[in-house]
Amino acid sequence: MKIINVAGARPNFMKIAALMDAFGRSEAIEPFLVHTGQHYDERMSDLFFRQLDIPAPDVNLEVGSGSHAVQTAEIMRRFEPVLLEQAPDAVLVVGDVNSTIACGLVAVKLGVTLIHVEAGLRSFDRTMPEEINRIATDAISDLLFCSEPSGVKNLADEGVDGDRVFLVGNVMIDTLLKNKAKADASTILDDLGLTPGGYAALTLHRPANVDDPTVFGRILDALQVIQKDLPIIFPIHPRTRKNLEETDLGRRVEGMAGLRLIEPAGYLDFLKLMSEARIVLTDSGGIQEETTILGVPCLTLRENTERPVTCEAGTNRIVGTDTDKILAAYRDALGHRGETVEPPPLWDGRAAERIAEILTERLA
Ligand code: UD1
Repeated sequence: MKIINVAGARPNFMKIAALMDAFGRSEAIEPFLVHTGQHYDERMSDLFFRQLDIPAPDVNLEVGSGSHAVQTAEIMRRFEPVLLEQAPDAVLVVGDVNSTIACGLVAVKLGVTLIHVEAGLRSFDRTMPEEINRIATDAISDLLFCSEPSGVKNLADEGVDGDRVFLVGNVMIDTLLKNKAKADASTILDDLGLTPGGYAALTLHRPANVDDPTVFGRILDALQVIQKDLPIIFPIHPRTRKNLEETDLGRRVEGMAGLRLIEPAGYLDFLKLMSEARIVLTDSGGIQEETTILGVPCLTLRENTERPVTCEAGTNRIVGTDTDKILAAYRDALGHRGETVEPPPLWDGRAAERIAEILTERLA
């Protein structure tokens, strides 16, 4: 049974790592890996392949950056001949990036079974490009694997036949649990002169936050106060760096001694940085899940989340981008570090294995 697995952008790599590992161990599945090249910088891509032992891609489509239409269309154009040549039994896509919907569309139009891992998540905010990718991908998928109960419910509400939907747990957490010991050995804290619990970690890259200088400015107003209290380590996404350089906000950031910009961190270093942080501030989806398992307070600088289990069972709070609200949540959350939380159902390191078993049964 040949399955083409698609990975394109940074958050896909930790998911595909767990799946390639489980498929590699399965006797029934022959995995073939396609990298679309949506992310291409060494620190956004190759570093993750090396650290997570992901096999080198069988094909790299090398699409690079572009507008949503250009990037999506270019991935489709380049993926179609690969699919025709490989003639797989199924195509598997993960997450919600442009590579996910682009390859999904090509597969279904050629009549190839489409599998979506991390199906059913909904922020109910259609201004997010990822929300459109999620809705569209789920609508055309044959087999849908959910990471949390809300995904199963959302798909049922949208009328998806329950026979094609499976709650399997979280493949990103498979990778976290597998690599936690290795990450503990990272020297990043020493390299940056940090002590455990003595700093905050920050990531920001959502267009709604960093492309709009008013919103980005409001977030910086809060960071200005926090960095006087706790140093903030900020591995900066290329998109965010570009926006800082192109506006006055860059100068404001330079004026904050406690806000330390570093290059995008590798997987193991970032896992270590999160694990030992007093608090994490982010607009990422995956980090809400990772901090849930690590038991580290997380402030999500967005108005909504497509991962509600991280707030119900985890340490995550949806804070938005209002300066005062961020500061109030920050002060409140500082008191809560070290609380033990019950992991969400099936976030036990075996999600990819479950997917391999179900696929073996269903596609045979
Ligand atoms: C994409 C995903 C987003 C995910 C994020 C993680 C979509 C719609 N968005 O957003 O869901 O959370 O990845 O990073 O798929 N760039 C580089 N080097 C790279 C990649 C990008 O410099 O290796 C720069 C380019 O200027 C590019 C910009 O970053 O134009 C944005 O990249 P893009 O892939 O379009 O979207 P992300 O913001 O990374």
